[in-house]
Amino acid sequence: MTAAMDISIRKAERSKLQDLNLENPPFGKYFTDHMLEADYENGEWKNIEIKPYQPLLLSPSLAALHYGQAIFEGIKAYKDSEGNAFIFRPQDNYKRFNRSAERMQMPAVPEELFMEGMRQLIELDKNWIPFKQDHSLYIRPFMFSSDELIGVRPSETYKFMIILSPTGPYYIEPMRIYVEEQYVRAAPGGVGYAKAAGNYGAAMYATAEAKKKGYDQVLWMDAFEHKYVQECGTMNVFFIIGNTAITPDLEQGTILDGVTRQSTITLLKEMGFAVEERPLSIHDIIDAYNAGLLYEVFGTGTAATISMIKELGYKDFVMKFDTSKWKTAPTIKKWLTDIREGRREDKYNWMQKV
Ligand SMILES: Cc1ncc(COP(=O)(O)O)c(C=O)c1O
Repeated sequence: MTAAMDISIRKAERSKLQDLNLENPPFGKYFTDHMLEADYENGEWKNIEIKPYQPLLLSPSLAALHYGQAIFEGIKAYKDSEGNAFIFRPQDNYKRFNRSAERMQMPAVPEELFMEGMRQLIELDKNWIPFKQDHSLYIRPFMFSSDELIGVRPSETYKFMIILSPTGPYYIEPMRIYVEEQYVRAAPGGVGYAKAAGNYGAAMYATAEAKKKGYDQVLWMDAFEHKYVQECGTMNVFFIIGNTAITPDLEQGTILDGVTRQSTITLLKEMGFAVEERPLSIHDIIDAYNAGLLYEVFGTGTAATISMIKELGYKDFVMKFDTSKWKTAPTIKKWLTDIREGRREDKYNWMQKV
């Protein structure tokens, strides 16, 4: 790390940890004592500081608020039975972060700043990693444009930050999913593969409409034919048909390249499944269901790990599943949790020690 990349540390005078009951913390509600903040100006990253978690003072003309150059990541840290802290595949999130940055015409964040900044921040707030099964510390790196100027053009200044949030199990109940044919999340050539803030704002209306119909989330379809499945809310999606696990491919750039998706593909192969990454139409899914060959459907993502889908509603047709009989999704979830919490061998070197 160059001298310019030195991270200054200013510690909080007292920890908020003692004031909170972290028995079953809701996702994203509590934040740890410290945060990392860095500024991009004149082509370089400076003012790199870990300091007490606090509000930001922002100008109303802040570019990000108007034109949406804003990206983020979601990563988790865990403790093993001896209390050592590990981060799950942070390098993959780092690479994805800079792919998002490039697509949004934002500067790349140097590896040292992202990885070493995250490591030092977690080291400082290590006591916040819950020491309990299925609990973890959610890590939220993000970057936004910070020019104070109204005008549609890439900002010249940016802020990169990392905040941390202790979290318990999330999305634990099997879900009811609405196959969305009217609204579209992403089109080829768009920003679907980027973890850009606007993708999430753009998805909220359709999700709210599906909730009014009694569903938990939407299954997005392709932009042209509304026929090929994409992803499920903020999760990638897998279908077990016969002895094959199928998940949509990433070729069109419309789907987020999930780290849990990659890990699930690896573990499904270890379990003996043939795994196919390819376009999959809703009609093929219905045919498999009617033939009794659609065994399991589940979402994968950092927040929830694996979420089983108990109902899939397409037009007037509802596919129902008895998730209590499923073997694959619960096994993948267990293996992932066991690897993360140190009960299963980390043979793919996914865990990075803090
Ligand atoms: C749109 C979307 N798809 C898929 C995922 C799953 O990605 P990952 O497994 O890296 O968390 C996420 C994020 O969590 C997401 O926001």
